[in-house]
Amino acid sequence: MAEPVLIDWNEDKRAEFRNGVMTARHRLHLAPEFTDLALAALLKRHPRELCDFCTMGEDPADRDSWRAGDPGSATGAELLEAVRQGKLWINLREAMNTDPVYKPLFNALFAQLKQLNPGYAPLRVYGGILISSPKAQVFYHSDVSETLLLHVKGHKRFRIYPPRGPWLEDLSMEEVLHKTQTEDIPYDPAWDADAAMVDLTPGDFVSWPLHAPHRVENLDGLNVSITCEVVTRESVMKNAVLHANGALRRMGFRPKSSSPDGAQAYAKLALSKSWKAWEKVSGAASRPLPKSETTFDVDLASDTGYRDRAPA
Ligand SMILES: [Fe+2]
Repeated sequence: MAEPVLIDWNEDKRAEFRNGVMTARHRLHLAPEFTDLALAALLKRHPRELCDFCTMGEDPADRDSWRAGDPGSATGAELLEAVRQGKLWINLREAMNTDPVYKPLFNALFAQLKQLNPGYAPLRVYGGILISSPKAQVFYHSDVSETLLLHVKGHKRFRIYPPRGPWLEDLSMEEVLHKTQTEDIPYDPAWDADAAMVDLTPGDFVSWPLHAPHRVENLDGLNVSITCEVVTRESVMKNAVLHANGALRRMGFRPKSSSPDGAQAYAKLALSKSWKAWEKVSGAASRPLPKSETTFDVDLASDTGYRDRAPA
């Protein structure tokens, strides 16, 4: 793409980027790579081990209703139709950074972000494409990496909460980093009053500070978004300190600071590394918890776009 991806970056946005909740405009919703035809082709060719097919209930506090499913032999166009008509959520993980059709757009986006924000130096970037139903939702969670989202199709309501207690306790993030808890952290519906609420339309870009919890409700239409996970020096340091604090707690200490700055932070970076190395040699490393077992099959004949599996 010869033209820039982002179109209205300015001094204010530069100052807010990664520090607060900020929005901007992009032009990927106009790109031929995001027509239904192109997305159906991507759904067909993207490696199945990088695809998540999920459904969920109505209650934002009932995250146990989040379930994984199997697309079976449905074609790309059929899957897109099942999402449009039903209650499904598909994540094509790493499509933006691995698929030859989407990779040039992704590279152009990050080249431009670096050029627009002096000093911005991501260490690793990953980009997924989310395709979800008109009434799908994503429950309250906190991502380990810095995250940004480019909205492409449909409308969705984003709520972003402050990255500190009570919305996010250090202890929760420590458990996520020690992989004893998924990224789904405790949620109280009363906190919605404290959230920044952003309604996204096609062409909106939104970013928020590292670890800021968020939840998403689709409002209408087939929803398509690009989500980017960005590993930076800052995210590595903050996560190392929280991971080390979790390790210290396991050794009976009560760490007081989770500041990513100063000599103490470097000592914790070293502790975090040695803890991980020890887990590796001792075989004690815990595996990431599976989001859920596969309990449904995609079914075009059903209103929801899926059919439950009979319990084993
Ligand atoms: Fe997220």
